[in-house]
Amino acid sequence: NTVYVLNGPNLNLLGLREPDIYGSQTLDDIAGMLEDRASGLDLTIDMRQTNHEGMLVDWLHEAQAKGARAVLLNAAAYTHTSIALLDAIKAITTPVVEVHLSDPKTRESFRHTSFIGMAATKTVEGHGADSYRIALEAVASGEV
Ligand code: DQA
Repeated sequence: NTVYVLNGPNLNLLGLREPDIYGSQTLDDIAGMLEDRASGLDLTIDMRQTNHEGMLVDWLHEAQAKGARAVLLNAAAYTHTSIALLDAIKAITTPVVEVHLSDPKTRESFRHTSFIGMAATKTVEGHGADSYRIALEAVASGEV
């Protein structure tokens, strides 16, 4: 009952990075919050971050191979550019929930296209760190 929580480029700088947009919580803070929530939902969190696109592809394949319950994916800027990630999501049967702290649809026009959203089972965006919690609860409830 493991949920992979995969985070893309620059999210290692969360807390320091444009806090007016992304909030003051670090990725470790979010991991701690998710682990607390997951324990009450009979789920285990496997939280990871990388700045490398291909690593996210490998981790999506791994989620399938290891029989993960679901993936929460914040692909960060690769959301708006990566056909490789779109294809990886299509290549696996593990459900993928697209997650964003901000709401990219209300920001610059280059953030309005989401390749992740074209294949994801669900998208949760614009709730800050709570986007991750809402996504996890969607998995726990069976919605995803
Ligand atoms: C983000 C939104 C993306 O547009 C941006 O490139 C990020 C973070 C978010 O969580 O709000 O790096 O995915």
